[in-house]
Amino acid sequence: MAGRPSAPRPPVTPDLKTAADLMPVLPMTAEVKDGRLWIGGVDMVELAHEAGTALYVMDEATIRHQLQEYVRWTTYHWRDVDVVFAGKAFMSLAMCRIVAEEGCCLDVSSGGELAFARRAGVPMERIYVHGNNKTPLELTECLDAGVGRIVVDSFEEMDRLSALAAERSVTQKVLIRVTPGVEADTHDFIMTGAEDSKFGFGRNQGLAMQAVERAIALPGIDFDGLHMHIGSQIFALRSFAKAIEVIVEFIAEIKERTGVEVHMLDTGGGLGIAYGLPDEPSTIKDYGKVVVDGIKEECVKHGLTVPAMAVEPGRSIVANAGVTLYTVGSIKEIPGIRTYVAVDGGMSDNIRTSLYDAHYEALIANKADQPREMVRTVAGKHCESGDIVVNDAPLQRVDVGDVLCVCATGAYCQSMSSNYNKQVRPGVVFVRDGEWRFVVRRETYEDLLHNEVG
Ligand SMILES: Cc1ncc(COP(=O)(O)O)c(C=O)c1O
Repeated sequence: MAGRPSAPRPPVTPDLKTAADLMPVLPMTAEVKDGRLWIGGVDMVELAHEAGTALYVMDEATIRHQLQEYVRWTTYHWRDVDVVFAGKAFMSLAMCRIVAEEGCCLDVSSGGELAFARRAGVPMERIYVHGNNKTPLELTECLDAGVGRIVVDSFEEMDRLSALAAERSVTQKVLIRVTPGVEADTHDFIMTGAEDSKFGFGRNQGLAMQAVERAIALPGIDFDGLHMHIGSQIFALRSFAKAIEVIVEFIAEIKERTGVEVHMLDTGGGLGIAYGLPDEPSTIKDYGKVVVDGIKEECVKHGLTVPAMAVEPGRSIVANAGVTLYTVGSIKEIPGIRTYVAVDGGMSDNIRTSLYDAHYEALIANKADQPREMVRTVAGKHCESGDIVVNDAPLQRVDVGDVLCVCATGAYCQSMSSNYNKQVRPGVVFVRDGEWRFVVRRETYEDLLHNEVG
């Protein structure tokens, strides 16, 4: 669930905004100098010329700041909280290392993501493993690596894990993923009686209780606690508060029925971010208070010991840390309809627009101090009419050769990228204190041919 478009937008008109007005969606080190956009002390126009486009650029200061904010405002309210970065949002070895350096944990959702964490040297006890259909091989890899917690998502997986752990004479800590029947909408929550989800065990049909009882009984499994994740790009903190009410009530039910205390409650990720200027997400500070204090208060209400906690932010750590730089290759005006500005990337490096109708802010990096005086549609270079990067984007006057910057692309763009049309994937550059470095190099045609047989 990486999706959900941002808030509905009013009709788009030239808004005359310059890059200085776009700071809410840009990395925290963004600035305008000599009419150009700079991030992390690096000139984005020069970078585009030196490193080539399309290019993902990530600001290390923003990533670290967001992780630190989560640690600060969760542990401020309760000493025992794991901040678990959701690797699906953006994963590279450099990112894994930053997560570990900031004292955080890492959520992996496949054997591949686990391989990245291992190569990066993330301590294995800090790994949380997700996925609604972990293969026997992946479970084996997790046990052999000694991961901290596996979030169990089905009865078959639990039985498989128990057998594999018992074979190895080890005991694996597990969390049971519960579908609390609360689904977050961007601005509110919906109580979903049906709990129609491929993820987790529904609470209302008694499946979650059955799963807990089985986890308590099975050999090789140490039932450590519960996990939930109610959605993504959530603006209304009361959605989290409602889900916490429901899940802590379930913890009380577990204690009453089995006598077992839940040691850990993982409330998932989901905090929204500003993609567009109308978006006003909640702060990490407010999120920490609502989630952590909410759990404490509900536990007191039910006479429960307050458990250890975990939160799993993805998007809110990396989205605004990133931008994508493109070069404008052609401009096609369809009189009376619209003007397409075509760039050297597209749905292969950002699928979110075609997939979720996501909206982004864009600007011309080499005209950053000029007003956005026209509305243009930024199109990709792929063989799909739906290959649009930004629909109806207010933009500065555009010329072929301009460096076009799309904001807030740090989450779920590189991680969901593809080689459609045998497009090579862009590299990822980290910027910091006036320096830049590739942390993922741009692919080559040789990379594309590497797995071909014959
Ligand atoms: C289980 C789980 N945890 C955490 C996340 C991260 O969510 P977000 O990026 O919205 O913070 C996701 C995203 O889909 C998820 O499925």
